[in-house]
Amino acid sequence: MTQDQAPKWRTQFTPWKSAGNRTETSGTADQVVRETGWVFNNETGSDLTLADFVRTGDQEVSRYMHQFGFSPESLANKTLLEIGSGIGRMTSAFTQQCFAVVAADVDAAFLERCHETVGKHGQVAKLRTCHVADGSTLQLPDSCVDIAFSYITLQHCQKNDALSLTTEAMRVTRGGGTLLLNYRTWVRADALLVPLGIAMRRLWRVPVVGKRLAVTRWSTRLGWQANRLSPDQVLAHVAAHAPAGKRLANVVVHHSAKTTRTVHTRGVEVRPMKRVNKSHWWLSATVEAE
Ligand SMILES: C[S@@+](CC[C@H](N)C(=O)[O-])C[C@H]1O[C@@H](n2cnc3c(N)ncnc32)[C@H](O)[C@@H]1O
Repeated sequence: MTQDQAPKWRTQFTPWKSAGNRTETSGTADQVVRETGWVFNNETGSDLTLADFVRTGDQEVSRYMHQFGFSPESLANKTLLEIGSGIGRMTSAFTQQCFAVVAADVDAAFLERCHETVGKHGQVAKLRTCHVADGSTLQLPDSCVDIAFSYITLQHCQKNDALSLTTEAMRVTRGGGTLLLNYRTWVRADALLVPLGIAMRRLWRVPVVGKRLAVTRWSTRLGWQANRLSPDQVLAHVAAHAPAGKRLANVVVHHSAKTTRTVHTRGVEVRPMKRVNKSHWWLSATVEAE
């Protein structure tokens, strides 16, 4: 790859690359979870283990797949793509339940650890990985998975990358397959959080200081929420940029039962769902192929 072809660095990549570097230098899997596990599920503690970490993923996989209407039996013949797998917190459970799993992430070191995590707690023979080197495209053939899933990841990408990954998810999902994608939209606190996040991402660019800041929990949590996307914005992008021969049907926007959400796009069902963060929403849809 020449320098011109090299993917453009985005500050949104910083917290993941910093944590990824630490996963390379840390020794055991338990140590990795103690040092970087909070980047994924916000849990900290000097006695955390990889097993504890994976257990939180097992619980969330069971809960979400049940809420989206997938029984363990219905997953047994499905190939699932997980966009933003990290070090495999949820990936292990997906390999236990699905026929095959593709774990995709912007950080290559996470994918290596993901392989290790699934080797210990899942079924590694069912796992393939896909490095999202440019943060926006999937190096996967068209129509190769049955379900494209993404949790607490698309909010951390630059807005255009999150939108591109949405249509990429459509491209790689076969006709009759399902999208289950999680996004973050605006809440009141964003009036303060968004400008602080922008300021923090600028600070990460400052030589020496930036690198040190990017590995601290408080700085990462301020700077990593890189975009807010409403259902209408995502659906307008899908309408304009759907991959050739593909469209969405049975579109449902699932939001926190504690909030009301208005969606203007026609033909979309808006449904409250239990235990969804107030700022989050999920897109579930069937991919139809002509
Ligand atoms: C908060 S973690 C969530 C990981 C996993 N979904 C979980 O729940 O444990 C966000 C993940 O998204 C990945 N990520 C961030 N930007 C990305 C992008 N543009 N493309 C692919 N993965 C990305 C990060 O490297 C990180 O592993």
